[in-house]
Amino acid sequence: MPSKKNDIQYVCKECGEKFSKWAGKCPECGAWSSFFEQEVKDSKSNRGISTASPTPLPISQVPTQQAKRLSTSNPEFDRTLGGGMAPGSLVLIGGDPGIGKSTLVLQTLSTIAAAGCKTLYISGEESAAQVKLRAERLGAAGSDMLLLCETSLSKILEYAEQIKPQVMVIDSIQTIYSEELPGTPGSVSQLRECALKLMVYAKNSGTVTMLIGHVTKDGQIAGPRILEHIVDTVAYFEGDKKGQYRILRTVKNRFGATDEIGVFEMTSFGLIPVQNPSMVFLQEGELLPGSAVSCTIEGSRALLFEIQALVGKSSYAMPQRVSAGVEQKKLTIILALLERFAKIQTGNSDVFVSVAGGLKLDDPGIDLSLALAIVSNAMNISLPPRSIVIGELGLSGEIRSVSSLDLRIKEAQRLGFERTVVPDSGKISGVKGIEIIKFSRLEQAVEWLLR
Ligand SMILES: Nc1ncnc2c1ncn2[C@@H]1O[C@H](COP(=O)(O)OP(=O)(O)OP(=O)(O)O)[C@@H](O)[C@H]1O
Ligand SMILES: [Mg+2]
Repeated sequence: MPSKKNDIQYVCKECGEKFSKWAGKCPECGAWSSFFEQEVKDSKSNRGISTASPTPLPISQVPTQQAKRLSTSNPEFDRTLGGGMAPGSLVLIGGDPGIGKSTLVLQTLSTIAAAGCKTLYISGEESAAQVKLRAERLGAAGSDMLLLCETSLSKILEYAEQIKPQVMVIDSIQTIYSEELPGTPGSVSQLRECALKLMVYAKNSGTVTMLIGHVTKDGQIAGPRILEHIVDTVAYFEGDKKGQYRILRTVKNRFGATDEIGVFEMTSFGLIPVQNPSMVFLQEGELLPGSAVSCTIEGSRALLFEIQALVGKSSYAMPQRVSAGVEQKKLTIILALLERFAKIQTGNSDVFVSVAGGLKLDDPGIDLSLALAIVSNAMNISLPPRSIVIGELGLSGEIRSVSSLDLRIKEAQRLGFERTVVPDSGKISGVKGIEIIKFSRLEQAVEWLLR
C-alpha cells in the first residue's frame, strides 16, 4: 500500500486519462465507475521511450546508422511500408474482421523466415493448431517461423528478448494485456501501456514489430486513435471483404509517403500482389451511360478507376443521395454545380454513385469525372470510348488544375486510352500520342458530352 495519499492517482480504464481525485464519471470520456487506483510510480516505462543521447547534441554530430530495410518479399506490401520494413519500426495494420490481416502477416513472416530471417508470430486470438491450418492452406507451414500463443505482455517480451527476432508480429494488440494494469485487454489504458512497451522494445532491439489492430464499426482502430499516435506506421485494409481485391493503405508513415496503397487479390493461397492495379478497377469494353473513367494519385502511383452514377426519378419525399467510395458532401456539391452551371436538374431525382472495386477516393482531381458520369446517366449518353476525364471543380464552375497531371495521362496512355479531358490550366509536358481535350468550365465539358 502506498504510504501517502499523494502517491495515488486515479486512472480511467476506458480512456486511460489520469486524475488526482476520484470521480464516479470520467470527465474526459464520460464513462461511469471506470476509475481505478494506481500507485504513482517512477517507472521507466511511464517515462516514454529511452533514447541513446541523454545530453543535447548538435544535430550535425548525431551519429546515424543507415540501417537497411528488410523486404517483405511482397512488392505491394513493401510499397505500402515505404520500400520495405524499417528496422526498429512499430507498424500497425488495421482492418475489418476477416479482411485478411492475419493472412498477410502470416504469409510474409513465413516467406521471409524461409529466406533465413528470424521471425516470431504471436497469436493471442487463435490456437497454434488454427494458425498451422491457415499456414498449410497458404503453403506456408514448412518454414522456420516461430509461433507463440500468448497474451501476457511480460511473457511476450521475455520470449522476444531470448529469441531476438528480426521481425515480430502481434495478432492482435487488443488481446494482449499487461499485468501491471487492472483494465481488461483491449481497454484504452491497456492498449496504451502495451503499445508503449512494445515501442520501447522495438526501438531498443531494432526488431520490426507489427501489431494487428481491430477496427470499430466506423472504421477506426479500436481505442480512440491512441495507437495511431504511438506507432510509426499505420496501414488499413480497405475494400469489400466479399470482393476479390483488398487494398492496404498507409495513413501514417514515419519512414515513407502516406496514402501509398498496395493492391492484393484474395485467393485460396492467400493475398497475391496485383501486378497492374489500374486494370483491377476498370471494366473491359465500352463505357455504358453513367460510367466514366478517371485517374487518381495514390501515394506515388497513378491509378485508373471507373466511377458509376445512377440517376432516377425519386419516389421519396426526400430524394436519396448515396455514395460509395467518394464523400457524400462532394456528391451534393457536384449536383449543385451541375444544376447551377450546366442546367442539369437532379432536385427531384435519386442519385447514387459508386467507385468500382471498393476504392475510397478523396482526390479532388476526380470531380469532373463524377460530374460527367452523373450527366451521362441522367441524359442516357455514353462518354466517348477509350477516354478518361481529369479535373477538379471549383464552386464557380471552373475546372481547376490537378496535381501530377502528366503522371495521370501517361498511366491512361499505358493502358491504351486514346483521349483525355483535362483542365485548360493544367501543365502537360512530354506527353505525345494521346488526344488532349482542354476545358476551363464545367458547362463546356457537359456540352462536349451532350453534343
Ligand atoms: N479457402 C479459402 N479460399 C479463399 N479465401 C479464403 C479461404 N479461407 C479464408 N479465406 C479468406 O481469408 C479471410 C480471412 O482472413 P484472415 O483470417 O486473415 O482475416 P483477419 O483480418 O485476420 O480477420 P480477424 O480480424 O477476424 O482476425 C476470409 O474472409 C476469406 O476472405
Ligand atoms: Mg486475424
